[in-house]
Amino acid sequence: MCGIVGYVGHRDAQEVIIDGLRRMEYRGYDSAGLALVVDGTIEWRKKAGKLANLEAELVEHPIPASHQGVGHTRWATHGGPTDVNAHPHLSADGRVALVHNGIIENFAAIRAELEAEGITFASETDTETAAQLLGREIARSDDLVAAMRAVVARLEGAFTLVAVDAHTPDLVVAARRNSPLVVGVGEGENFLASDVASFIAHTREAIELGQDQIVAITPTSVTVTNFDGSEAETRPFHIDWDLSAAEKGGYDWFMRKEIFEQPQAVADTLLGRIDDDGQLNLDEMRIDQAELRTIDKIIIVACGTAYYAGMVAKYAIEHWTRVPCEVDLASEFRYRDPIITKSTLVVTISQSGETADTLMAIRHSREQHAKVIAICNTNGATIPRESDAVIYTHAGPEIGVASTKGFTTQLIACYLLGLYLAQVRGTKFGDEIASLVAELEQIPAKMEEVLKRSDSVLELARDLIDEQSILFLGRHVGYPAALEGALKLKEIAYLHAEGFAAGELKHGPIALIDEGLPVFIVVPPQGRDQLHDKVISNIQEVRARGARTIVLAEDGDDEAVPYADTLLSLPVVPTLFQPLLAIIPLQLFACEVATLKGYDVDQPRNLAKSVTVE
Ligand code: F6R
Repeated sequence: MCGIVGYVGHRDAQEVIIDGLRRMEYRGYDSAGLALVVDGTIEWRKKAGKLANLEAELVEHPIPASHQGVGHTRWATHGGPTDVNAHPHLSADGRVALVHNGIIENFAAIRAELEAEGITFASETDTETAAQLLGREIARSDDLVAAMRAVVARLEGAFTLVAVDAHTPDLVVAARRNSPLVVGVGEGENFLASDVASFIAHTREAIELGQDQIVAITPTSVTVTNFDGSEAETRPFHIDWDLSAAEKGGYDWFMRKEIFEQPQAVADTLLGRIDDDGQLNLDEMRIDQAELRTIDKIIIVACGTAYYAGMVAKYAIEHWTRVPCEVDLASEFRYRDPIITKSTLVVTISQSGETADTLMAIRHSREQHAKVIAICNTNGATIPRESDAVIYTHAGPEIGVASTKGFTTQLIACYLLGLYLAQVRGTKFGDEIASLVAELEQIPAKMEEVLKRSDSVLELARDLIDEQSILFLGRHVGYPAALEGALKLKEIAYLHAEGFAAGELKHGPIALIDEGLPVFIVVPPQGRDQLHDKVISNIQEVRARGARTIVLAEDGDDEAVPYADTLLSLPVVPTLFQPLLAIIPLQLFACEVATLKGYDVDQPRNLAKSVTVE
């Protein structure tokens, strides 16, 4: 939520900042702005709406060249998405400019204090409080780092702040608490950003920051200290993907590109984690095997799409390990006072590694002495850093706001974890594990096959474009797949969609079925799954009431064919792995409906990619 950039160096700062904001616009697109230091003054432009509005403003009112500045793309929290509320915010005397990601919880009290001192505020934002406070502090100390240290000592909440001072050339200063920030290390230049995508065009060397740290960058130095002024520990890392991964590569949308990247992404998640004899090798897990044998309960915690991946994981993990497994929405988890002991294993799933609720769930679990394993896609993010162990999904950057390859690679990581636990705890024989692993290794090729069959999905999207509501049904792991299919359609096509457990239909939702209502149904494998025939009955029930059925069934499922108004066939896989394939037509369907409706697929309204506030 909100993308932040800071730059100092030999390039044109405006170009670097605009380019960085463009690559982070998925984090928020309610407004965009920048502030540059030009000859001892701050020049700033900011505009409500997408980055294009800011670019137009800069053409109309250009800023002279500068080599030092900050930029921001906003997902509004306090104050509507207007020009005035857009960042950067300046101190009343115009000396400092500041951008912010997060929420300053005690802003009202500080604002009242500053107003009592005669400072006039221009906006309704919590951020301006920090800008005005910084202005007051720098007037006292004439030192941007010291002033920032004084500001953060007053703030409560989650924040990344990045600021420049008109009187201090060649310096950008940032502070971070519970909100993302990475440093990009260049030659004669340095970068600050919410996400490495912002500076990947210029450098692949980065530094991960810890909590409660202040970083000062000049063209030739990066100095990190803790909020209390002591020297801080940081971790340099190399970014293992390049610029092409952060570009559309000929696709109309990042989302479509990411859907088509899934075979490769899934192969990358599996890479290096399977021995020659088909056993799991998760050496990167920093949790002792002896400790994993003492686990008596697993709780999976995540939000949104990652939560649905967790729902699938529960079926697999319980089946393979016989350890009871619960799945919680991270936003509910700690408020329900969950039973956590030191023999509970908490598994969090997060593509971004920055989701605030998931992070809070980790902290809560560790306070109760549980071990936490994170499944995450983002190197250097807060969630993996605060967990006991991490399984990276290695999916490459996911830029489309709607998660696609994030979901399927999370599923793969969950399957790997489940099988690893079964291996360590001896609940599956080695050959059983090897045979499941062999099935997983075939998934990329089977995903390619599903993608080749996508024409019928595109045709279906054209047919259903004017529908008002669409239902998705499934049972067992088909149920979370149905929920995820419905979520895709809601979030990018703004179309009412609901996912239901097919067995629950008769307990209420069947009343929604009306003549012609489209219903997608995920059918479990024929012959090998006890639920197959029950789902076929569920299809007949909705069809008898006039529903138009779109049936996702495996190749050769002759019993499903007569009840399918449209059949989307899937290659044969074990039941537990079916969501990996079933979700692809549902992702493509949502992407195509949204495209046909003329919506911005990559930047759906009201959403942001990474939800860094609770
Ligand atoms: C939906 C979507 C969201 C995220 C959720 C969690 O397409 O992307 O529901 O899955 O916000 O995000 P992460 O995985 O970054 O914690």
